[in-house]
Amino acid sequence: MTMMQRWKNRKRSHFPLLGFILLVFIACSVLFSERTILIIEKNPSDSPPERTFTYINPNLEPTSDSVQELDRFSRCNTTGEYSGKKIRWVGLEPESGGSRRKRESLERCDVFSGKWVFDDESYPLYNESDCPYMSDQLACHKHGRSDLGYQHWRWQPHNCNLKRWNAIEMWEKLRGKRLMFVGDSLNRGQWISMICLLQSVIPAEKRSITPNSQLTIFKAENYNATIEFLWAPLLVDSNSDDPVNHRLDERIIRPDSVLKHSAKWEHADILVFNTYLWWRQGPVKLFLCRWSDQENASCEELDGLGAMELVMQTWADRLASKSKYLDKQIFFVTMSPTHLWSREWKAGSEGNCYDEKAPIDNEGYWGSGSDLPTMRMVENVLRKLGTRVSVINVTQLSEYRKDGHPSIYRKFWETLPPEQLANPPSYSDCIHWCLPGVPDVWNELLFHFL
Ligand SMILES: *[C@@H]1O[C@H](CO)[C@@H](O)[C@H](O)[C@H]1NC(C)=O
Ligand SMILES: *[C@@H]1O[C@H](CO)[C@@H](O)[C@H](O)[C@H]1NC(C)=O
Ligand SMILES: *[C@@H]1O[C@H](CO)[C@@H](O)[C@H](O)[C@H]1NC(C)=O
Ligand SMILES: *[C@@H]1O[C@H](CO)[C@@H](O)[C@H](O)[C@H]1NC(C)=O
Ligand SMILES: *[C@@H]1O[C@H](CO)[C@@H](O)[C@H](O)[C@H]1NC(C)=O
Repeated sequence: MTMMQRWKNRKRSHFPLLGFILLVFIACSVLFSERTILIIEKNPSDSPPERTFTYINPNLEPTSDSVQELDRFSRCNTTGEYSGKKIRWVGLEPESGGSRRKRESLERCDVFSGKWVFDDESYPLYNESDCPYMSDQLACHKHGRSDLGYQHWRWQPHNCNLKRWNAIEMWEKLRGKRLMFVGDSLNRGQWISMICLLQSVIPAEKRSITPNSQLTIFKAENYNATIEFLWAPLLVDSNSDDPVNHRLDERIIRPDSVLKHSAKWEHADILVFNTYLWWRQGPVKLFLCRWSDQENASCEELDGLGAMELVMQTWADRLASKSKYLDKQIFFVTMSPTHLWSREWKAGSEGNCYDEKAPIDNEGYWGSGSDLPTMRMVENVLRKLGTRVSVINVTQLSEYRKDGHPSIYRKFWETLPPEQLANPPSYSDCIHWCLPGVPDVWNELLFHFL
């Protein structure tokens, strides 16, 4: 998290260059995908794309003990260009998924399309100081935020109402089950929100939490239920899987295997996945030992979007290929927006989310932090999974909430130099979300769909 913070600060100070690179990148990816489509349309039968790429079968159980675990000490001996290897995975039959989804959309309105309504009668759903599991990175009031408007907004879909939050009803849904969040620090925020939303109705002696580790478990004995968080910011096995000691400067992944993590999440009944921001910080190194039989740790470098696509496919392959996933309820939470440049919602200004006290009321507002090519890629992968995975599409609704981030009102792990302290926007966290706040609504959406 501190690394994210640092990255963000760096990113802001180099904005003109990075912004330019981003634009070029977006332009290239649009051009690239259109060209691919053209080629495929021209030669529908005689040149299937399989011929131009090497396809890899993902999630193969390791056959020899020569396979090395990735950890924060892992290094690539050599790093070359991406060789174009792709993941071979088989999606599910579209028919069954399609018709059920159509039925659902007839029955329900689009709960992700709506507006924020100020409601200090019903919100917040819990008090910050009443939640013993609150994180110091998200407890904004405790860390000096005095405007508390951010706690009082209700999400109101345009054509219907969200199911009213009810902690007892949620516990009844969770009785005898394991609910597991799998992902990065944004997902951890949603997990903490869920515990804070639910803990008050459990007597203190009936609840417990294991110490923070890769898998952290909150347990409610009287419901025989757990709410767990698995730190897996890149979903697949990587050198960043230690929640405390990880490296962000050189991310090395095994693009073809989620097995290390899936061994943990396979015990859950309800799964909530996310991944996004870790792919937005420059190229990723693909650790390719399993892709060939050479002993050397030779890596290939690939841009974040390309690497994330491989990973989403490897993840989807696991969910699609094992029948045990049929008994689970699986959700994917879309990208959480950032508010790093206030000029995107207030032309000519130079700040970020710092000192923002109200949501954006320009319907359809979309900031540069939410990458559309990534969204399209995620959509394509999820479509091929049919109804096996449900989308919690938090992106648009969270885009409006420029007021919801901790900015300077959180614990910072490093001591900040005086010149930074004198300039609050320079160290504001405009990535994570204050609690109570926006992630509570993500959980209300989850409740709505369970
Ligand atoms: C390659 O890297 C691995 C660790 O990633 C190391 O054990 C091995 O000795 C290295 N090989 C060479 C030839 O440098
Ligand atoms: C939060 O605390 C205030 C005052 O202590 C109390 O009136 C309110 O009911 C509490 N809200 C919740 C959701 O517990
Ligand atoms: C508690 O839940 C687990 C599944 O998570 C189940 O195997 C076990 O039988 C349950 N125990 C009781 C006492 O209901
Ligand atoms: C391993 O790396 C060394 C040094 O880079 C190289 O000479 C050797 O050919 C590599 N081995 C294989 C199997 O690629
Ligand atoms: C999420 O919603 C946005 C519009 O708000 C839409 O463009 C996008 O396709 C949706 N994403 C998915 C994965 O359904």
